[in-house]
Amino acid sequence: MSSLLNTLGKHFPECSKGDLIPVLQHVQDQEGYISSNAIREISEYLNISCSTIYGVATFYSQFKFNPPGRHSIKICLGTACHVQGGDFILSALQMEIGIAPGSTTEDGRFDLERVACLGCCAIAPVMMVDNDIHSRLSVIKLRQILSNYE
Ligand code: FES
Repeated sequence: MSSLLNTLGKHFPECSKGDLIPVLQHVQDQEGYISSNAIREISEYLNISCSTIYGVATFYSQFKFNPPGRHSIKICLGTACHVQGGDFILSALQMEIGIAPGSTTEDGRFDLERVACLGCCAIAPVMMVDNDIHSRLSVIKLRQILSNYE
């Protein structure tokens, strides 16, 4: 038995299909993301097809399907940030690091996620890198901010 199945057996002994979301959260907490191997093992454990698990997991933005980068970027595209050019900042950011939201750079330096609001709309447009908020973003500021994260 794999170590993942072992842990699932300890935390979710009922083995119920209703445990799917908590199981996915548990796996992500343990491994940092939901790998295709984890999907297969969850499928085996809960007796739910892999496609159903993918369907459920991709519905929720909390689940990641790529290994996290050393630094996690959350770019806000909520209303206030959108009005202040958040989409433009996202395009520039994608060009700069070469990935789309939901991905991780090949060198493992950054992962990128879009979010609906970071709770600091008055200083839009905003992005968060790890636990740092960067406000009133501009394309010029982006490169300098990113250089602080190796
Ligand atoms: S909309 Fe971006 S911080 Fe609220």
